[in-house]
Amino acid sequence: MSSPSSFFIATPIFYVNDVPHIGHGYTEIAADVLARWNRQNGKDAWLLTGTDEHGQKIQRTAVANGVSPQEWADKLVEDAWLPLLKTLDIANDDFIRTTEERHITAVQKFLTRLYDKGFIYKGEYEGFYCVGCEEYKASADLAEGQAEFEGEKVCPIHGRPVEVLKETNYFFTLSKFQDQLLELYKTRPDFIQPESVRNEIVAFVQRGLDDLSISRAQLEWGIEIPWDADHVTYVWFEALLNYITATGWGSDEETFATRWPAVQLVGKDIARFHAVIWPAMLMAADLEPPARVFAHGWLLVGGEKMSKSKLTGIAPSDITEVFGSDAFRYYFLRAITFGSDGSFSWEDLAARYEAELANGFGNLASRVLSMIARYFDGVVPDPNGELGDADQAIRDTMHKATAVAMDAMERFAINEAIQSIWTIVDELNGYLTEQEPWVLAKSDETRGRLAAVLYTAADGLRALAVLLSPVMPAATAKLWTALNAGEKLGALEGQLLSEAGKSDVLPVGTVVGALEPLFPRIESEG
Ligand code: ME8
Ligand code: MG
Repeated sequence: MSSPSSFFIATPIFYVNDVPHIGHGYTEIAADVLARWNRQNGKDAWLLTGTDEHGQKIQRTAVANGVSPQEWADKLVEDAWLPLLKTLDIANDDFIRTTEERHITAVQKFLTRLYDKGFIYKGEYEGFYCVGCEEYKASADLAEGQAEFEGEKVCPIHGRPVEVLKETNYFFTLSKFQDQLLELYKTRPDFIQPESVRNEIVAFVQRGLDDLSISRAQLEWGIEIPWDADHVTYVWFEALLNYITATGWGSDEETFATRWPAVQLVGKDIARFHAVIWPAMLMAADLEPPARVFAHGWLLVGGEKMSKSKLTGIAPSDITEVFGSDAFRYYFLRAITFGSDGSFSWEDLAARYEAELANGFGNLASRVLSMIARYFDGVVPDPNGELGDADQAIRDTMHKATAVAMDAMERFAINEAIQSIWTIVDELNGYLTEQEPWVLAKSDETRGRLAAVLYTAADGLRALAVLLSPVMPAATAKLWTALNAGEKLGALEGQLLSEAGKSDVLPVGTVVGALEPLFPRIESEG
């Protein structure tokens, strides 16, 4: 049992058969925002991500490209998957590759443990396999092929014929865990989220579970079964283990004890693996199940799930090169209800960038800072005695928005949290329009009011920088620097989110600096 201050969150480890698209980027930014948010709440947050490098799909891709699977994986990791993390400003604590020794050794130890405990046996597998999914398929799961595949049974996800497998395999006694799994779902109703995915998983397990083939005899690219060199481990069985092999299971039990269990953030396509097979594997090894399994929705392009195999992929850098990494992070987490599917469109992205980021937040920050420079020589003025209802309303908004965001993030309702924080942006913009500081600046008599308004706005920017830093680390760092808030308040990442909504925190007398544009205008190519 890890300590209550621990927050371990993991993304799936991605196949290196191809380069990442924005669907993978979506999972990465969501996990990163949740990790940063918890870290900034004083938790010992740990973000793990990585790559899934074994199996038939990678082996075939490598062969088709005339290189060894290891060479292929090394190249894709270096050229595409590690750069993705930089592109999206991901502050991961570790990156696991399943070809690493630490993973291989611990996987073999885990297999040996289950074998010794009688949860693995040798049997005959006869059935279907989809290499695209790297998954054994029941005939009920298959679809009728279309066009060139007419008359054949195809995988409904990949639309390609499944392969018929008939071989001697090792099996994991998954069927024995039906009752224990149902008990887990019952006693911990929030174990699988959202509700729609939970219901589907519960119904699936209630129908009964088959034992799972966990080895392949006709494949070379994988982790050898420790007691039988003629077999390699089924890729999913070892891939799931990355969450514990990366955190010290089998080698550094002390570290493992501080981290495990993990929050598993996955796309809904792989919820079953994480909410059924994975907890059963852990139960068999006498380990705790994950803290929770949260399955987010799909990014759709033209109504279809964006995918590598259908060539609908958009590279994350296509977006960040135009709009920047903060806008990427903000857009996908704000525009899509976390847990539901969402459609991507360039028009929607561009419209939100302009309205919400450039005109909403960016313009607010630059207006306030330039007015403090112009009217108070860049010194944050003292609002003393001049505060009225309108100023108090801003303070109330800051307070309430923070409380709502805290609660929403606890539920992984990331879009709700951002929406709540944005009430501060909107209210402050409305406040400036109403208070008209540029008019107050015209007379000495209203200098007290001018000070109150600009102080209130500047302290609001301070709160926004803190609250938005997990979502937009780059822009908020620029704002924190321009506010010169670090001098008295310390580093931005050190500001507790739960305290962000307190008002009158920015010290009077702080000398603010110039602000580089947070969200520059995009020159349209038209
Ligand atoms: O499944 N919308 O890897 P994978 C949203 N290696 N998210 C998407 C997406 C989309 N259109 N497309 C992909 C595997 N994703 C295994 C995982 S874990 C032990 C092994 C994201 O490369 C989403 O997180 O096919 C999805 O679950 C994952 O990429 C699948 O990545
Ligand atoms: Mg996939």
